[in-house]
Amino acid sequence: MENKKILNAHKKKEEDVVVDLALRPTAWQDYVGQDKTKKNLKVILDASKKRGESSDHLLFYGQAGLGKTTLAYLVAKEMNANLKVTSGPALEKTGDLAAILTNLEKGDILFIDEAHRLNRMIEEVLYPALESRKLHLIVGKGPGARTLSIDLPPFTLVAATTRANLLSGPLRSRFGATFKLDYYEPVDIEAIVRRSAKLLNLKIDDKAIVVIAAASRFTPRTANRLLRRVRDYAEVNNLKVVDEAAAKNTLEMLEVDNLGLEPTDRQLLSIIIEKFHGGPVGIQTLAAALSDDQGIIEDVYEPYLMKIGLLNRTPAGRMATPEAYQHLGIKIPGDGGLV
Ligand SMILES: Nc1ncnc2c1ncn2[C@@H]1O[C@H](COP(=O)(O)OP(=O)(O)OP(=O)(O)O)[C@@H](O)[C@H]1O
Ligand SMILES: [Mg+2]
Repeated sequence: MENKKILNAHKKKEEDVVVDLALRPTAWQDYVGQDKTKKNLKVILDASKKRGESSDHLLFYGQAGLGKTTLAYLVAKEMNANLKVTSGPALEKTGDLAAILTNLEKGDILFIDEAHRLNRMIEEVLYPALESRKLHLIVGKGPGARTLSIDLPPFTLVAATTRANLLSGPLRSRFGATFKLDYYEPVDIEAIVRRSAKLLNLKIDDKAIVVIAAASRFTPRTANRLLRRVRDYAEVNNLKVVDEAAAKNTLEMLEVDNLGLEPTDRQLLSIIIEKFHGGPVGIQTLAAALSDDQGIIEDVYEPYLMKIGLLNRTPAGRMATPEAYQHLGIKIPGDGGLV
């Protein structure tokens, strides 16, 4: 389905990498929202700075685009530390991790993105490294094999994941602190759009900002992406200032509605409503009907639809709420028929 490939404003695309880099806050005061996380994190970092030690290992989890990577960079900056970056899928063999660990210097921060994709063997190497700063290597093969134990310098692991439930229990328990990033408040998203517009040298009025923020799924990356599309629209149409109409027209072109739903989101809801009479419908059946991956439905589409009250997860399956019917302009069966 072509639309799905082009749109999906909440999925990461290559162009995002560039945009993310340009708009990524590099100072705490530019990191909008997530106040509880920022406050608690600061306490941990300040305390370890005072002691002159590396901080406890930190885990950040939450939906894509909410600012986990940004936060990891800010932690490194705050600690005045080098950040070494890798990711779950990049670490294939235990040797890959061993090479990184043995190259760490005192106080370094090791950032592992997509930590839920670490394989079991790598995790086993990671446990003693996190707990007692030891790297256990097996040298040789067969009966002559022996374990070599190498001391590692003090370091901090910062791990990020969109799926904390997929991390193994032992790994999860080795973090000194875990922070869940939540969807942003609308005012925070508006502040992010305003800041990004400034960085992009784009003149935009308040009403346009509200329209973009409302369609941003409470997610900074989505907000920045929509803003870029609005900027394109303004450029093509020679607009000096982006106004409400320009923002709305852009969203319409992108088939993103006023709540930030994309064709796939609407399709998901209309399948539940039209094929399954509003539900409940099991997730596997739904994935098959939508020809999409169950994990993506669960991790990307559903959290937002639930957050805005269009979908319910019940033990019997997924259900569309009356608000979903209303949003799609579908009459609720039996509603208003009898007076
Ligand atoms: N608190 C924030 N304030 C301002 N901008 C933010 C904030 N959080 C994120 N952003 C913007 O959103 C972009 C995406 O954030 P980031 O890459 O940190 O998300 P992520 O949680 O690591 O996503 P993923 O799970 O896809 O890796 C950043 O480049 C930045 O421009
Ligand atoms: Mg990231």
